[in-house]
Amino acid sequence: MCGIVGYVGKHAASSILVEGLKHLEYRGYDSSGLALSEGNDIEVIKKTGRVAVLAGLAQKRASKARMGISHTRWATHGGVTDENAHPHLSWDGKIALVHNGVIENYQALRTFLEGEGATFRSETDSEALANLIAYHYARRDKNDAAHNPLVSAVRQSLLHVEGTYGIAVICSELPDEIVGARKGSPLCIGVGQGENLIASDVAAFVGRTQNVVYLDDGQIVHLTRDDFTITTIGEETVSPVINQIDWKIEEAELGSFTHFMEKEIFEQPQALENAMRGRFSDDESTAKFGGLNLDAREWRQIDRIVFCGCGTAWHACLVAEYLIERYARIPVEVEYASEFRYRNAPLDKNALFFVVSQSGETIDTLEALREAQRKGFRVLGITNGVGATIARESDGGVYQHSGPEIGVASTKAFTAQLLISGMLSLYLGRMRDLSFGDGREMVQAFKSVPGLVSQILDQADKIKAIAERYADHQDFLFLGRQSMFPIALEGALKLKEISYIHAEGYPAAEMKHGPIALISEQCPSVVLSPHGDTLQKVLSNIAETRARKGRVIAITSAGKDFPETAADDIIRIPSAHSCVMPILATIPLQLLAYHIACKRGCDVDKPRNLAKSVTVE
Ligand code: F6R
Repeated sequence: MCGIVGYVGKHAASSILVEGLKHLEYRGYDSSGLALSEGNDIEVIKKTGRVAVLAGLAQKRASKARMGISHTRWATHGGVTDENAHPHLSWDGKIALVHNGVIENYQALRTFLEGEGATFRSETDSEALANLIAYHYARRDKNDAAHNPLVSAVRQSLLHVEGTYGIAVICSELPDEIVGARKGSPLCIGVGQGENLIASDVAAFVGRTQNVVYLDDGQIVHLTRDDFTITTIGEETVSPVINQIDWKIEEAELGSFTHFMEKEIFEQPQALENAMRGRFSDDESTAKFGGLNLDAREWRQIDRIVFCGCGTAWHACLVAEYLIERYARIPVEVEYASEFRYRNAPLDKNALFFVVSQSGETIDTLEALREAQRKGFRVLGITNGVGATIARESDGGVYQHSGPEIGVASTKAFTAQLLISGMLSLYLGRMRDLSFGDGREMVQAFKSVPGLVSQILDQADKIKAIAERYADHQDFLFLGRQSMFPIALEGALKLKEISYIHAEGYPAAEMKHGPIALISEQCPSVVLSPHGDTLQKVLSNIAETRARKGRVIAITSAGKDFPETAADDIIRIPSAHSCVMPILATIPLQLLAYHIACKRGCDVDKPRNLAKSVTVE
C-alpha cells in the first residue's frame, strides 16, 4: 500500500523516480508525486490520478536534479486530492517526506505543532510527520558534528510517533542525502554504482541494480550517492547484508499481453514448475523442502496445524486444510490473520503455525505471525516475496518462486500456494500413514500439473466466449463442495474485485439453507463439479438451481458422468488426482473473471479502491 521511491546519484532523478513508481503502481494509484532537490530548494510536483499523469508533468518540467523522493498513494487519511498527495513539504519548506503507513497519533502531533506555529495544507496524517521532522531539524544542536542533522531530526521525531511507517525524507539544506526509516511498512535499499535508491519494493529499482538491503523495523538509513549507513532508532550501528534479487526487470514487463493479470494467468504452467523444482525425493515418493527447519521427530510431535492468511491466501489456507487433513490426517485450523491477531484463541501445546502471503508484507498476516511467536509457537511462512518481512521473521518456510505478481488480483501466486499445500500434505502424510505407492501417485499428479494447466489455457477462447455472454449480470453465485468450496470462494472474489459484480461463494449443498432464494434468471451460478464422491449430489444441486430458472456454468472433469444437457455452459477440465483438482478448477474461474471484467471495460490490473500488498490494518 502506497509506493515509495527515492534516488540519489549521478543521473537526472525525475525520470528514474517516475519509472520506479510505474513499477510500484500496484501498491496504490489514487495520486502520485515527487520532490526534487535543486540547489537549496525542493520542488514538489504532485497530482491526483495515475503515475502517467505525473510522468507528463515531470517531463514538462525537465528537472536536472540528481536527488529526489516520490510516492504513489492509496488513500488512508484524507480524500484523493492534490493537497493530500505526497510528498508533503513542511511549513518552513525545508523538509519533504513520503510516507506509507498510518500515524495513529497524528491529531495530537498536529495540535502540538500548530501551537508551535506550524501550518498544514492537507488532511493527512503524513504531513504531521513532515512538520515534526522540520520542528526537530530547526532545533538541532548545530555544534553536534558527530550526528547527521537530518538523521537526528528523523530519529527524534519517530520517538514521538505511534503507528506504522515506511518513510523517505529529504532536506533543502542537504541536497545529496536521503533518510529513510521503517516500522511496519516495508523499505529496501538498492545499492548501485555511484547511485543509491530506496523503495517500498525491489520492483522499483531492479532495472538499475540487483543488489538489495532489506531494512528491518526500527531502522533508519542515511543514503548518499556513494554510501549508506543504517542505525537503529536506539542509535546502534547495523551491519548491512546485501542480497541479490533473483529476477530481472523483463519479468515485470507486460510483453505482448494486454494486462498483467492475463500474463500471470498464462505464466502458471511455468510458475507451477518453479514451485516444485527440486522438491521431490529421489524415489519420487514424497516432497522435500529445504527451509522448514523441523526434524522428523519434531514433525511427528505436531498434533495440530494452524494456517493464517488474508483474502486469496486465506482461500489457499482452506484448501491446505482439506488436503492435509485428508492425506496427512493432522487436524488443521484456518484463521483470518486479522482476526487471529486480536482473539485469544486457545492453542494446543504442539501446534505449528503456517502463515501464507504472496507479498510477504501483509500487515495482518505479519502481526498474526508475531502474535503466534509471542505465544511461543513456531511459525513457518509460505511466501512469494523473497526477502519480504514475513520470510525474514518466520522460523522457516517455503518460497513459492512464482516470479513477480503485479496484477492486483492474485492468480499465479494462488495456484502455487495450492501446489505447495498439496506437496506439504504429501510430505506430512508420508511421515504418518500414507503409503509409498500413494506417495508416488501424488508426486506424478503434481508433476503433471503444468501440462494440465496448459491444456485448460488452450480453452481460453471458449471461456472468453462464455464470459462475454454472462458479462452483463450483476450477481453471481459460485458453488462447490469439499476442496472445491474454497475454490468457489476464490472464483467469487476474483470476479467481484475486478468486475465489481456482486458474487458469493457457497458450499453447493448450503444453497437450500438460504442462498437459493437469490436464484433467478438474473443470477447465474458457476458450479464446480469435478469427478468424485459428491458429483451426483452436485448434479442434484445444479438441477435445483435450473428448476428455478438459474443459469449454470459448470466446470467439470467428469466425462460422460456429466451429461451435456446438465448445465447451460460446460467447461471441461482434465480429470486428475484429487490433490491437484483445486489447481485445475481455479484456471477457468480466473479466465471467466478476467474476460467478464474486460468486457465490462474495467481496469483489470488496477481495480477501484484496491491495492496489492496491504500494509495498513
Ligand atoms: C485477491 C488478493 C488479495 C490478497 C490478500 C493477501 O486477489 O490478491 O485478497 O490475497 O490481500 O495478500 P498477500 O498474499 O500478499 O498476503
